[in-house]
Amino acid sequence: MSAEEGTDSASPPSYFVGKKEDIIRAKKITKFINGRDVLVLYYNGVFHAMDMRCYHSGGPLQNGDIEEFNDKLCVVCPWHKYKITLLEGECLYQAVDPTAAVPNPTWISKGNKQRIHTVKEVNGDVFVILNDSPCFIESDYYQTEKFRATLVKP
Ligand code: FES
Repeated sequence: MSAEEGTDSASPPSYFVGKKEDIIRAKKITKFINGRDVLVLYYNGVFHAMDMRCYHSGGPLQNGDIEEFNDKLCVVCPWHKYKITLLEGECLYQAVDPTAAVPNPTWISKGNKQRIHTVKEVNGDVFVILNDSPCFIESDYYQTEKFRATLVKP
């Protein structure tokens, strides 16, 4: 996939991923963008993009449900039900103090685990700008050729 034509060299490239109305209709699409598998989804009037494979074990997040936990929208990985926030890529879990007389589960963040990308819409066209932060984010592992080599080919 090539970068959007007209992107000036000072700004990061943006990649056309589809027409707005098509993505809204589909709710979720996946695209291979500059070496990454990216999930683009539309929920409650907002576009989001993140690495497609779950940071935990490479689960297909395009098959996950969108649910709200602790006032944050999350994609729930279909494999082991990890909850990953759409805005930050944080993994949320409920912790319980085993010494408490009455269990009182509390939502805790494991930190940013999933690489989140930027989505912009221009005149009905939707573009993704990849998050090129040099910091390792755990979902990066599932974007490697080493991981892809483990996938069963049809
Ligand atoms: Fe996503 Fe395990 S692979 S929760």
